Amino acid sequence: MTTNAIIVNKVTKRFGKSTPALWRKLRPGKNGSGKPEASGPVLALDSVSFQVKQGEIFGVLGPNGSGKSTLIRLMATLLLADEGNVTVHGLDPAVTPLAVQQLINRVSVEASFFKKLSPMENLIYGARLYGMGGKEIRRRVVEILTRLGLEKRSIYNPMEEMSRGMQQKVAIARALLSRPKILLLDEPTTGLDPVSKREVQAVVQELKERDGTTILLTTHDMNEAEILCDRVAIIHKGKLIALDTPEALKDLVPRLNGHKPSLEDVFIHLTGDKLKEEEKEDIEAAQSMVRALTQEHQEPADQIEPALLEQEKE
Ligand SMILES: Nc1ncnc2c1ncn2[C@@H]1O[C@H](COP(=O)(O)OP(=O)(O)OP(=O)(O)O)[C@@H](O)[C@H]1O
Ligand SMILES: [Mg+2]
Repeated sequence: MTTNAIIVNKVTKRFGKSTPALWRKLRPGKNGSGKPEASGPVLALDSVSFQVKQGEIFGVLGPNGSGKSTLIRLMATLLLADEGNVTVHGLDPAVTPLAVQQLINRVSVEASFFKKLSPMENLIYGARLYGMGGKEIRRRVVEILTRLGLEKRSIYNPMEEMSRGMQQKVAIARALLSRPKILLLDEPTTGLDPVSKREVQAVVQELKERDGTTILLTTHDMNEAEILCDRVAIIHKGKLIALDTPEALKDLVPRLNGHKPSLEDVFIHLTGDKLKEEEKEDIEAAQSMVRALTQEHQEPADQIEPALLEQEKE
């Protein structure tokens, strides 16, 4: 029987950010009334529910700002839900955060390191936080980093001398070191070159097949989601709008000239039109802001000194 590794139950998360006053003044109301939009907290997640099965690779897709990282941070005990709850192997991160931290590890795009130290030193430090140490760890660090395609000589050089993509690989290695039951990967391959991407994807696949690790992954790479994920959830403006296997999701969109749509077609079909509307509103608001600011700084022509006007003519 398959059990659920993660249960997300009607989770709502708000951030208490209010709209800046000038933006509110200039941005027309969405209902076309021309009235300023009400300021208030950002609804990052809106009553989201789903389950991740043990041993599956579960993808979360969504436009920028749709709530993917917020979701991951709730599972990783870094945030608390306002409503609803998350369960990780039967444990509530809000109640027993330390027990949950022993089961999970997270890789995010903004991973932090001691930049003056080498990957080896950073990873040994990370391993100690999980109560691991000894010679065995040094051997595993070399094994994981070379598996991820990092050159041996980089392992002992300071992190600050490494490119962003190389640092991202070290972040992934650090997460693997503790052999987590659940791996939370927030855009793990963003910024990696095509070969490095494949190396990371192969490691993710291997973790599922060899170790039975449950993996929750966010990505903006539709091809990656299609290759790796058993099931994919699409979230938009904090709401879960679709959840199924990549193949089944493609049946949601009509065929184009007899061709089966790609996952990217599905993504654009479900989230694209609404995005274009928002982009148009944002561009209009930015244009009126620029107009207002330039008018504010423009001196009326009769106040400009005649000598300056002469200079302009030349
Ligand atoms: N610490 C925070 N304080 C205030 N607002 C936040 C905070 N973290 C996230 N948000 C807001 O919550 C919403 C969801 O953000 P989130 O980072 O989860 O999106 P995302 O789907 O991961 O986007 P991206 O694809 O750009 O990584 C956004 O409107 C964002 O501005
Ligand atoms: Mg994010």
